Amino acid sequence: MNKLSLESLDSIKSPKIKNEENPFPNKRITVDDKKMINCRADLNQLVPFKYKWAWDKYLVSCSNHWMPNEVSMSPDIALWKSKDGLTDNERNVVKRNLGFFSTADSLVANNLVLSIYRHITNPECRQYLLRQAFEEALHTHAYQYVVESLSLDESEIFNMYKEVPSVAKKSNWAMNFMTTLGDPKFKTGTKKNDQLLLRDLIVFYVVFEGIFFYAGFSQILSMGRRNKMTATAEQFQYILRDESMHMNFGIDMINQIKLENSHLWSLNFQEEVLDIIKTGVSLEYDYVKDTMDDGIIGFSVKDFKKYLYFIANRRLKQIGLPEQFSGGENSLPWMSEIMDLNKEKNFFETRVTEYQTGGSLSWD
Ligand SMILES: [Fe+2]
Ligand SMILES: [Fe+2]
Repeated sequence: MNKLSLESLDSIKSPKIKNEENPFPNKRITVDDKKMINCRADLNQLVPFKYKWAWDKYLVSCSNHWMPNEVSMSPDIALWKSKDGLTDNERNVVKRNLGFFSTADSLVANNLVLSIYRHITNPECRQYLLRQAFEEALHTHAYQYVVESLSLDESEIFNMYKEVPSVAKKSNWAMNFMTTLGDPKFKTGTKKNDQLLLRDLIVFYVVFEGIFFYAGFSQILSMGRRNKMTATAEQFQYILRDESMHMNFGIDMINQIKLENSHLWSLNFQEEVLDIIKTGVSLEYDYVKDTMDDGIIGFSVKDFKKYLYFIANRRLKQIGLPEQFSGGENSLPWMSEIMDLNKEKNFFETRVTEYQTGGSLSWD
């Protein structure tokens, strides 16, 4: 094929493109045109913003940018290699959590881009979802980086979600909910289908990211607080901060969809949601018993059970449902301190971490 000369570009006629071929030709978007689901307005235009909370969370997430390979893994490599550095139970906790999370984050990312994204018809929410999708990729990257650094058996870790029952049960349970929405023929617009979308959002944002991640996070972060596997714990700290933002964004989306489509929130549907959350809690409890039966890392199974009930009640309240679990209490208060760190000195004090990026820096 001949290369195009500079002169020949002038002789090429550009094709005629009629304005009518644009499905949204002559109308400027107003905030009243925008809706969370089933919106017919042009989704290629970000502004004017209707949901300021979505844009604000996008900006905060960008300010908290981090990369897994910025954390040096050398202290953990030395500890993992030393014969007496960790007990067998502690090694099991580390491996089990890498097994769960390494595939769980891919699962969340796949659900996001293949099932949720196209049904959320608002550009500022989509902007956040794109950021979230990248963060999920970073999380999977972080787990792979830890597995590689510690020279663990990749095949053993990445197959746990099929081979270890308490891990497999959580992943399989969630995967069942994403198949309908992931079907290319699935469309929102009917009460039944809009409820399926809302159900998927609740399963993934409230249960998967809001409950299923918390046993693993508290186990690894508790080890970090006791000066063990501090680099892995540092990775988990950044991931927890991201996940807490994902969950809050998901809850904002759920509540906004409820507000705009109150007919979806029927008593039957609320019952279904309560059952989903109760099942999620019992699966997480099975996981924690299976992973740390004798509670060797700074808290017991009973402490976690109270914490699990506490966070589950909180999630229910956040989406406007009554508390279902009695005896819950914030038995691991240090978890919220870790989550609330925004621009922090690393809590293990290994180094100062400033993840505020260019756009947010002030130039004196
Ligand atoms: Fe994640
Ligand atoms: Fe997430």
